[in-house]
Amino acid sequence: MSTVSLRGAAQVLLPPEDGLPYLRRPGELRLEPGSVTVSGGVIAALDDDPAADVVIDVAGGAIVPGFVDCHTHLPFAGWRAEEYEQKVTGVPYEDIARRGGGIAASARALAETSDEAVLAQARAIRAEMLAHGTTTFEAKTGYGLSVEGELRLVRLARELGPAAVTGLFAHAVPPGYRAAGWMDEVDRLAAQADVDALDIYVESVAFRNEDLDRLGAIARREGVPLRAHVEQFNANRSVPVALAAGARSVDHLACLHPDDLAPLAAAECAAVLLPGAEFLGAEETAPGRALVDAGAICVLATDCNPGTSPVISLPLVIGLAVRRYGWSAREALAACTLNAAWVLGMSDRIGSIELGKRADLVVLDTPVEHLPYRFGRNPVRAVIAGDVVWQWP
Ligand code: NIG
Ligand code: FE
Repeated sequence: MSTVSLRGAAQVLLPPEDGLPYLRRPGELRLEPGSVTVSGGVIAALDDDPAADVVIDVAGGAIVPGFVDCHTHLPFAGWRAEEYEQKVTGVPYEDIARRGGGIAASARALAETSDEAVLAQARAIRAEMLAHGTTTFEAKTGYGLSVEGELRLVRLARELGPAAVTGLFAHAVPPGYRAAGWMDEVDRLAAQADVDALDIYVESVAFRNEDLDRLGAIARREGVPLRAHVEQFNANRSVPVALAAGARSVDHLACLHPDDLAPLAAAECAAVLLPGAEFLGAEETAPGRALVDAGAICVLATDCNPGTSPVISLPLVIGLAVRRYGWSAREALAACTLNAAWVLGMSDRIGSIELGKRADLVVLDTPVEHLPYRFGRNPVRAVIAGDVVWQWP
């Protein structure tokens, strides 16, 4: 591995102190001019190394931690552009789902697609994510919609090689099952499958709070974190249930009930906000400003999936979050670096620029404030994951 010097940045994004697992006050992130040296795959110095093998001139730009996308639905097969057209011309997502579209449509596509083709699509998406600064990502199952289908997805997700594989075995109720009956299968799948976390989709078209409560017990038994898709289209009051079950994260929250905000902010449970899904689905807006102000562990992710959020770019998600939630660039950056790493149980190794941490770094060609402001532009010029793994062509 070469020694790499990222030289002369106008801004290096630094934590208020070393060793923090997450940031409840992300405005405390510091932006200081400087350089970073990478050696042996780790951050070796917050300084320039004149003898480095590789030098990247950051002049005028910024060095930030590699982005962590802790909520994607990779791997999946194909896309659902025709549903997007239905949606924007007035058909609600829940109606599309009830007519056999939505998750069921992606499940059919997956069943008809070879392992090689599924992995080829996922790898191409993964490459695009890397070019937008994502050095760590999570993958989920969820489009299998049968015991065999979900086990196949666990295998394909592992082969893709994310930092974490989440078993979203309770995504939609498969044909021929009722929710409770499928939860019996979920219980067996969780016992059998090699996954790093368990997840569930609680909504009118999917599972119920009692299923979330049951998945909490299954996750405790298996010793893996519980995550949950909640309050996306309706206020189902799933957050208190998730908190009581000890969830690591509650994701979506566009319809978070006001009474559930303070308990969530006080809990050691991340609020994972997905503004790509909110924007493209014309959903409600999650109370991002209030969550940060209340001290919640706020996180951003793409929710990359063929239905609600065919989005791969965390810079784009940052731009959406800053505008929709009224966040500063620092608040948005904390949410897709250290706080997102905590969701994956990795914030002791990645997510912030600290000596000895894995050298996952992104070089931007502008100060960080330009990132949300020049909306939709990719400001990433180099990506380091132990070594230089991508550079602007
Ligand atoms: O996170 N809401 C549930 N699951 C996905 C959407 C899945 C799909 O429509 O394919 C989400 O938005
Ligand atoms: Fe999702």
